[in-house]
Amino acid sequence: MLRYLTAGESHGPLLTAVLDGVPAGLSLAAAYIDEQLARRQGGYGRGGRMKIEKDRVQITSGVRGGVTTGSPVTLLLENKDWVNWHRIMDPGPEADMVSRAVTRPRPGHADLAGAIKYGHRDLRNVLERSSARETAARVAAGAVARRLLEELDITVVGSVVRIGGVAAAEPRLSAAELAEAVRRSPVYCADAAAAERMVEEIDRARAAGDTLGGVFEIKVFGLPPGLGSYAQRDRTLDGRLAGALMSIQAVKGVEVGAGFAMAAARGSEVHDEIFYAPGRGFYRRTNNAGGIEGGMSNGEVVVLRAAMKPIPTLYQPLRSVDMVTKQPLEAAVERSDTTAVPAASVVGEAVAAWELAAAVLEKFGGDTMREIKERVARYRAYVKGI
Ligand SMILES: Cc1cc2nc3c(=O)[nH]c(=O)nc-3n(C[C@H](O)[C@H](O)[C@H](O)COP(=O)(O)O)c2cc1C
Repeated sequence: MLRYLTAGESHGPLLTAVLDGVPAGLSLAAAYIDEQLARRQGGYGRGGRMKIEKDRVQITSGVRGGVTTGSPVTLLLENKDWVNWHRIMDPGPEADMVSRAVTRPRPGHADLAGAIKYGHRDLRNVLERSSARETAARVAAGAVARRLLEELDITVVGSVVRIGGVAAAEPRLSAAELAEAVRRSPVYCADAAAAERMVEEIDRARAAGDTLGGVFEIKVFGLPPGLGSYAQRDRTLDGRLAGALMSIQAVKGVEVGAGFAMAAARGSEVHDEIFYAPGRGFYRRTNNAGGIEGGMSNGEVVVLRAAMKPIPTLYQPLRSVDMVTKQPLEAAVERSDTTAVPAASVVGEAVAAWELAAAVLEKFGGDTMREIKERVARYRAYVKGI
């Protein structure tokens, strides 16, 4: 079973991820994880914090000589900002609990509900953990899953398809073409003309002290059919992927394939007819299902989309109420992004890769990469030969 936990506060000394169930024999370099971390830190529209942090992973267990051993993998990410915050965030009794206390909950954040739930008056105790800084740990964990999938020729590519009012056209690209187009774009969007308009939209929102949301898309190439299952609700692949994407801070909607648009269409217009060619096996000419039917991958490209709400911290703050005095006040402002949809697309890739790697291991089992690769190859041959 593949599982992981993350821990750490936004301004604490470090973020930690502990990954259990990673098979032995997977080559894994810190530089590979760092590449994904750098992508998460990038994207036009981010705020001042990302200039301070330069995330670099330290692998402190489960990898030896650049290869996983089968033991739990521990990943550490230092917060460079800790030097400015250690007095505030000190776990001991000497912590300064006063100077950076937050008592004005920000609408759209965990602040108010978290304070009520855990009995805090200082909202810092909530926002330090609910902050999306945590997604750095998820990206690090997801990079390990991505590495595993790569070994099986499964590629996960995220891209931004909307920022605010600007939507991208959807070019039909191969995995490599899509990844390259995204890499070149300041907003991780494969449609270069739309990307230019997105940058302008971000500039306008920033000038107005406002923020933007958007939509990112995750495509998975090379997934064999039959991952996930219809047999039990918690084994459905779409359920698990949607849950993982929905768990990303600020994601408010997820769709698979044609998703919500299918609700307005007739059945004859959306269901993907089945064809067969010797040597190729079963295939489809359309992919409105987004590569998943009955809770299982069906062999087509998996297409997922997630809607992200606008960043809730506004430099033109919204109205709120002080937790202590109960007086109406403007919400607190912490250093913040104008939009983080490009970064969220990288987080989306990471969490999707994790769920897919878990589904692969559930189907094929195996404690070593060698076993897993052999089994996947045999299964692919079986599918082709049906
Ligand atoms: C990569 C990423 C970066 C984010 N950056 C910020 C930010 O700078 N400021 C902010 O207020 N919210 C930011 N958010 C959104 C909040 O973390 C999120 O809206 C908040 O935790 C409330 O959770 P909910 O929207 O899921 O209800 C970011 C989210 C992501 C995924």
